[in-house]
Amino acid sequence: MSRVKLAVIPGDGIGPEVIAEAEKVLDAVTRGSDVTFDKTRFSLGAGRFLETGDTLTDDDLAAIAAHDVILLGAVGGVPGDPRLTNANIERGMLLKLRFALDHYVNLRPSKLYPGAPGPLVDPGEIDFLVVREGTEGPYVGNGGSIRTGTPHEVANETSVNTAFGIERVVRYAFAQAVRRRGKVTLVHKTNVLVHAGGMWKRIVDAVAAEHPDVAVDYVHIDAATIYLVTNPARFDVIVTDNLFGDILTDLAGAVTGGIGLAASGNINPDGAFPSMFEPVHGSAPDIAGQQIADPTAAILSIALMLDHLGLTAEAARVTHAAEQDIAERDGSARTTAQVGDAISARLRA
Ligand code: NAD
Ligand code: IPM
Ligand code: MN
Repeated sequence: MSRVKLAVIPGDGIGPEVIAEAEKVLDAVTRGSDVTFDKTRFSLGAGRFLETGDTLTDDDLAAIAAHDVILLGAVGGVPGDPRLTNANIERGMLLKLRFALDHYVNLRPSKLYPGAPGPLVDPGEIDFLVVREGTEGPYVGNGGSIRTGTPHEVANETSVNTAFGIERVVRYAFAQAVRRRGKVTLVHKTNVLVHAGGMWKRIVDAVAAEHPDVAVDYVHIDAATIYLVTNPARFDVIVTDNLFGDILTDLAGAVTGGIGLAASGNINPDGAFPSMFEPVHGSAPDIAGQQIADPTAAILSIALMLDHLGLTAEAARVTHAAEQDIAERDGSARTTAQVGDAISARLRA
């Protein structure tokens, strides 16, 4: 019997709704198996902040870090709430976790499952993996403004890129390509961002030289959004910086049947810290509390988590059950819980 310490952070908005279904699926797939998940629940996010003024304390961080893996729903308050300025939740909690736990790989697979309501008329096969850098770029918080609020305000948000940080995520992307269809596409903006882009390109070229078996190409971020819609089948593994990867993966979710299907993992491949699995989507305040959010992204995040833990058979069963559910969707409305129940029932059958 093996035991896994799982930290569960349902978060805000639809986060708790989709995590409830993901937990049902985890229970169903592990029932009767020799692995047990010991869960600790953490109340974090906008709700917690508004109640206590805390985002992520040192104690929270230490307690979460003592787990083997983390499952997160989504965090973020209602748009326009004047008490939530300065990205206190996004930066103070979510990015703080990703940075402190050195989640340098933000793994975001995109697959068009049969029956998924994709918007493209003739998409071909869509099955690619975005390896988004997770700890650098414009996300590091290296910015500020002067003369704030005046007509002469100057605001900077400096993108930080290190050779160390790029090389490790690029190596990860190549390792993934070797296990997949053998192609890596670097997405950046080297025609304008010559310093950071130039370094990304040089490092990709150097790692490519060690992998003659992997085909490598380069696409500017703006053109990448075209190809993602007109010819998504051209992509196998995309490696890109933190911000470009954020934007590209919402688009990838949309072309593969909706953001409610897009799963992700914030991975620390070295195993020094627990990795964190979460849907790509946010707290969706516009549909929160209505039981209409699609929990499939959270459920497929469970599959990524199981895979990460080496529980590959269990991961495959969850993916298969979700895939079958997607294939049989006929557009009729189901509640969030009904989707979770249906997928769990397939696992128990
Ligand atoms: P969002 O992803 O929450 O919502 C974008 C759109 O997608 C909305 O129309 C929403 O209704 C829809 N949507 C999202 N998830 C869905 C689901 N499971 N099923 C059906 N429809 C779904 O993005 P947003 O509105 O830009 O952000 C809302 C809040 O979430 C913000 O505070 C943002 O910072 C935060 N956010 C958090 C995370 C996270 O915790 N990982 C990720 C993205 C955004
Ligand atoms: C995501 C989100 C986050 C990001 C925000 C909420 C910090 O959009 O997980 O994609 O930009 O990474
Ligand atoms: Mn995003």
